[in-house]
Amino acid sequence: MKFAIRPYHPSDFCALYTVCLKTGDSGQDATALFRDPELLGHLYVGPYVVAEPELCFTLTADGAPCGYVLGTRDSARFHAWCEQVWFPVLRQRYPLPSPDDDSADARLIRNIHAGDPPEPALTAYPAHLHIDLLPVAQGQGWGRRMIETLLNRLRELGAPGVHLGVGKRNTGAIQFYERVGFHRVLDADAWIAYGMKLDPVQI
Ligand SMILES: CC(C)(COP(=O)(O)OP(=O)(O)OC[C@H]1O[C@@H](n2cnc3c(N)ncnc32)[C@H](O)[C@@H]1OP(=O)(O)O)[C@@H](O)C(=O)NCCC(=O)NCCS
Repeated sequence: MKFAIRPYHPSDFCALYTVCLKTGDSGQDATALFRDPELLGHLYVGPYVVAEPELCFTLTADGAPCGYVLGTRDSARFHAWCEQVWFPVLRQRYPLPSPDDDSADARLIRNIHAGDPPEPALTAYPAHLHIDLLPVAQGQGWGRRMIETLLNRLRELGAPGVHLGVGKRNTGAIQFYERVGFHRVLDADAWIAYGMKLDPVQI
């Protein structure tokens, strides 16, 4: 199988939603958890590839998408864009569930309604990212290469730092982020925020 990293292309859109679902249960396949298979992608793929496609990269296996790294240079600006463009239509499509609905779908729909305002403790790391690879691509150094590809682009754009969030159940991803140079910035009940300062590219 031949793997390659290339810039995101609009034809990747559906495949990247599928990658998100297939890795969405703390790194494992989340297909069985959701009635609506698009919800995870609406939160973690769609807004990035639409708002900042130049910060999205696709990993391909024999030409077919099998992973992504997606990011934003400025989480506050991204949040404002989501509030203006991305979430209003989704909030109409997915009304708030009743408070006693504890399904996985209901939890994500509440997240769509809540939005994702930037965390003040992370302002020194204004960019953020998401990375997911299908199992066929894992454990061969592609995750590290994908992260480096995005970090290089962020450095070129002058972003001073980048953060990401990971659930504490996802122990594999936690070890990965520490191996590739992220440090813990926030430790919440169920998740950890990792950060990395970025040196500007010298021209
Ligand atoms: C987490 C993920 C992005 C890592 O990518 P990867 O290609 O598998 O990782 P790499 O092969 O590039 O590994 C890079 C380093 O991290 C380490 N690492 C990666 N996964 C690890 C794991 N599960 N346990 C321990 N170490 C791990 C590797 O040993 C390697 O260390 P080294 O280069 O110092 O020898 C990928 O496995 C993945 O997408 N998993 C499922 C989705 C997911 O959990 N995404 C993160 C959501 S927050």
